[in-house]
Amino acid sequence: MSRVVAVTGATGFIGGALTQRLATAGWRIRVLVRLSSSRGRLAGVAADLVVGDLGDLDSLRRFVYQAEAVVHCAGAVRGASKAYFDRVNVEGVARLVHAAVGEHPVPRFLLISSLAAREPTLSAYAASKRRGEEVLAVGGGTMPWAVLRPPAVYGPGDRELLPLFRWMARGIAPVLGSGNARFSLLYVEDLAEAVVRWLSGGTAVQRTFELDDGRPGGYTWSDVVDIVTSLRSRRVIPVRVPAFFLEVLAALNLAAARMIGYKPMLTPGKVRELRHLNWVCDSAAFMEATGWSPEVSLEDGLRRTLLGGRRS
Ligand SMILES: NC(=O)c1ccc[n+]([C@@H]2O[C@H](COP(=O)([O-])OP(=O)(O)OC[C@H]3O[C@@H](n4cnc5c(N)ncnc54)[C@H](OP(=O)(O)O)[C@@H]3O)[C@@H](O)[C@H]2O)c1
Repeated sequence: MSRVVAVTGATGFIGGALTQRLATAGWRIRVLVRLSSSRGRLAGVAADLVVGDLGDLDSLRRFVYQAEAVVHCAGAVRGASKAYFDRVNVEGVARLVHAAVGEHPVPRFLLISSLAAREPTLSAYAASKRRGEEVLAVGGGTMPWAVLRPPAVYGPGDRELLPLFRWMARGIAPVLGSGNARFSLLYVEDLAEAVVRWLSGGTAVQRTFELDDGRPGGYTWSDVVDIVTSLRSRRVIPVRVPAFFLEVLAALNLAAARMIGYKPMLTPGKVRELRHLNWVCDSAAFMEATGWSPEVSLEDGLRRTLLGGRRS
């Protein structure tokens, strides 16, 4: 019988790609879905559905029951308050870890955190991702666990970076961060493959790993513009968005979100993340531990994402 992996966040961007990859790797997949979840990303994947929520311990116990591994990919990536980020990204982790350590045998546990956790003072999101890691380390006891910290992840179906890349593909590159900022990136299928490698190896326990696409020193905005220019074979015009303008926009967006009740992406905290100068990381430790290596360069990933092209 195939082994059961329990995956949260499968209805989201990263979890959707991960579930597709796990299916081809032969795992029996169990996913946690909310009643409100849109299930489009699960189309064509044979998965057992557990209806529940990170806020509901009973559903989490059913979710992890006799699973060999748990991959916790659900998270709040946009929101208007610290309380909301903490509820999902801290208390949600704590509850799922509690359910997992109560299982016999105890499953392996992989937390998809974020590189943002490296800079917890920048935003409520970053702080919640760091605290989520900490509650795993404390509550996990002797359970074999690992934390993955991806940088910005892009690929088909992404709602955060893709709109920006689409503007660039049309010839206009809004440059949101500082010209000196450097950042790593990761194509979503490489992240999915990293998870599959960790699951199939099982050697690297109780460690935190950063992941990137293998580009030493990461990218500047101008590197990204150059890559899109070469893909288009036409000029892309960089348009620097002044910090002040972004800050005002973010403050207005946050106020509107609190008034109307939607979950904003652009907030003052997100602007601080965007303007942070160093989001560079590297995957050396994870590569050594698992044998995984990233395969998709930014050029190739953008070709696939924007133009539907295949790997060159
Ligand atoms: N995207 C990136 O660039 C990036 C980079 C680094 C790390 N990450 C991390 O990767 C993870 C996934 O991000 P994403 O970009 O795929 O986000 P996403 O598309 O917004 O997906 C979030 C997923 O979490 C689920 N979820 C949220 N709150 C939940 C709750 N209370 N109970 C159960 N499920 C809940 C959502 O379910 P519904 O469908 O029901 O809403 C959805 O499946 C997050 O933990 C994020 O911090 C993302």
